Amino acid sequence: MKQIGILTSGGDCPGLNAAIRGVVRAGESTFDMAFTGFLDGFRGLVQDRSIPLKSPAMSGILTDGGTILGTSRDKPHLMPVGGKVMDMTNAAVETYKKHHLDALVCIGGGGTQKNAYRLQKAGLNIVTLPKTIDNDVALTDVSFGFDTAIGIATEAIDRLHSTAMSHGRIIVVEVMGHRAGWLALGAGIAGGADTILIPEIPYNPKLVAETVVRRHKAGKKFSIVVVAEGATSMDALDALKRLEAAKSNAKSKSAKRKATDALNAYYRQHVSHTVRLTDTLAELTGLESRLTILGHLQRGGTPSAADRVLATRLGTAAAQYMSEGKYGIMVAARGDNAKAVPLEDVAGVKNLVPPTHPWIDSARQVGTCFGD
Ligand code: F6P
Repeated sequence: MKQIGILTSGGDCPGLNAAIRGVVRAGESTFDMAFTGFLDGFRGLVQDRSIPLKSPAMSGILTDGGTILGTSRDKPHLMPVGGKVMDMTNAAVETYKKHHLDALVCIGGGGTQKNAYRLQKAGLNIVTLPKTIDNDVALTDVSFGFDTAIGIATEAIDRLHSTAMSHGRIIVVEVMGHRAGWLALGAGIAGGADTILIPEIPYNPKLVAETVVRRHKAGKKFSIVVVAEGATSMDALDALKRLEAAKSNAKSKSAKRKATDALNAYYRQHVSHTVRLTDTLAELTGLESRLTILGHLQRGGTPSAADRVLATRLGTAAAQYMSEGKYGIMVAARGDNAKAVPLEDVAGVKNLVPPTHPWIDSARQVGTCFGD
């Protein structure tokens, strides 16, 4: 009987429990596996906090949002311990050995893929699944959580049309997506946004205002502007490039951490970019302008049918690959199938929106402005 560990790490999203259920149900019923769930992401692995995961406990969780295991953004090699940051990789390896694990399943987004790859290099047998509402994990057709988030954001945009039309207003809708604009692009198209601003296409607020005014003159008294939280105006782009360069050129660990803190501080301060954009559009157009930030709503509640199917497919495929002794892989979605992709090809690579992507072409062809 193979002993398998499971953890969920990074931002929660609908589908995590469906994935856990897929791995455990398939592993127990078909591949003679037993499962241990580690709590709160990699932190629970480092601290050896776990619960047994058996098939009966999987009943009913398919439709539950969030994760029954809890999650965190902690990284084994940069673990906060008593006010310091310590490399606790060895503690994670010790827990793995103490439980006589044959493999560890790590379910998460880009950060999780990187942390999991580090543990693979430390000698653990690792299998990962791609999870994130941002859909920015590389080498998989899609990550689960994304479809549900698009549905939530689209419904919100549909509802915001009422107030936009009734008041003749500009409604700016901020959606999640720090580095990748997939969620803003997908929900913007589905919600019929007049402007979609994504991190991959730096925007000029003046061009957005011109689009609003042009619509207004054509008799459309309102505009819907969907903005990814990580979208960058052209004038802020230089500051961002300098901070990114400082981070990549940093030599020592402390310099890297200082540069990363400066970059994160910029992003936190940058969250107000949608506030500034909302005010700027009001000034430039003379129209009332309001901002709605959808935030963590996009990660809440039950997974969509598509995400339930995807998470179940990838979860069962993970059990299959482990039964074959395939490790050091991410279980990627490929059409109707799953594909084992080397973790080293995934870790640290982001799936960003190519500016020539067909979704962007289609949006432009129905008159959507991208601020460029
Ligand atoms: O990684 C997914 C994500 O939802 C991002 O879109 C968002 O910027 C981030 O997580 C929010 O992180 P937290 O939940 O830790 O505030």
